[in-house]
Amino acid sequence: MEIIIKESNSAKSFFAQKTEVLKHLEEKVKLWMKDHIDKRKLWFSSDFLPADEKMNDDQEKNIKKLRDRARGLKDEVRVAVALNLLTEEGLPHFHRIIAQYLGDKSFWSKWNNMWTAEEDRHGAILRDYVRDARLFSFREVELMQFHYLESGFNPDWDKDPYKVFVYTTLQERATQFSHKNTGKLAGENEPLLNGILNNIAADEAKHFTFYRNVFKEIINLDPENALLSAVDIMPAIDMPGFSMPNFRDMADVIRRVGIYGPRDYKKIVEEAIKFWEIEMLTGLNAMAEKAREKILAIPKRLEKAAEYIEKRTESKTFSFDFIYNRILVFE
Ligand SMILES: [Fe+2]
Ligand SMILES: [Fe+2]
Repeated sequence: MEIIIKESNSAKSFFAQKTEVLKHLEEKVKLWMKDHIDKRKLWFSSDFLPADEKMNDDQEKNIKKLRDRARGLKDEVRVAVALNLLTEEGLPHFHRIIAQYLGDKSFWSKWNNMWTAEEDRHGAILRDYVRDARLFSFREVELMQFHYLESGFNPDWDKDPYKVFVYTTLQERATQFSHKNTGKLAGENEPLLNGILNNIAADEAKHFTFYRNVFKEIINLDPENALLSAVDIMPAIDMPGFSMPNFRDMADVIRRVGIYGPRDYKKIVEEAIKFWEIEMLTGLNAMAEKAREKILAIPKRLEKAAEYIEKRTESKTFSFDFIYNRILVFE
């Protein structure tokens, strides 16, 4: 009993110490937010997919044309769009984590609320698109979304606010890749979908810039603790629903068509290591130095993992309820 109290006290002071470091970032965060807003082009779903009471004939015709074009979309593109949509619709998980880990009464809540408002448009526009274009057996997607939210997301991050910034940096970059590459694959049949996904990817790139700047500053202020947090997150980032069987198959499909896979993640980690100048950090205590060495070894491990997965990849068929169980064959 006594030990538990001691542990929770030390955990609390550890948390308080990090919160203190994060407070020092207030002025910089204000500047980064201003810069973010200055560069932002605020678009909405209705800019791409008008849905007004008063629509002209052209607008009505465009919906019909959209449905005709969307019929030409390959099933692997549909799977990727479904996964991108579900990822975006997981927003409540992430809003809550950021509020819990960074505090809901500090300047961070301004960022969290603004970021959430921006992110919410991603799920909204994709949902509007798949509905207008008639891309799926829609209730099946709605059911997956329901289970995805219902199952919650409680990563084992010990309430460590530094880990939030490592995770979000990597996750924003990963979603940027996924949207952009899905758009590329969809583009030949469906330029509107490509345009929508490019706009989302551009948002993710700006979020990525913000989060990686924050973590760079954390490294400057508190390098030892920053490295101990980073080493827990960087080896792998999974999305909340990853344990659901459909998610694993969908992730396998998007890897097989080259939208997003372990090699992309390796690139993302390498880029983060370089930007955070982890190789150059010196004068660390023994634990942090060990963490630094482990982090520097991650790309090699990811390369091995990618090779292993590629070697093991055999021809496989997939089927998903949300595209009427049509068979996708990968030779
Ligand atoms: Fe997003
Ligand atoms: Fe984002």
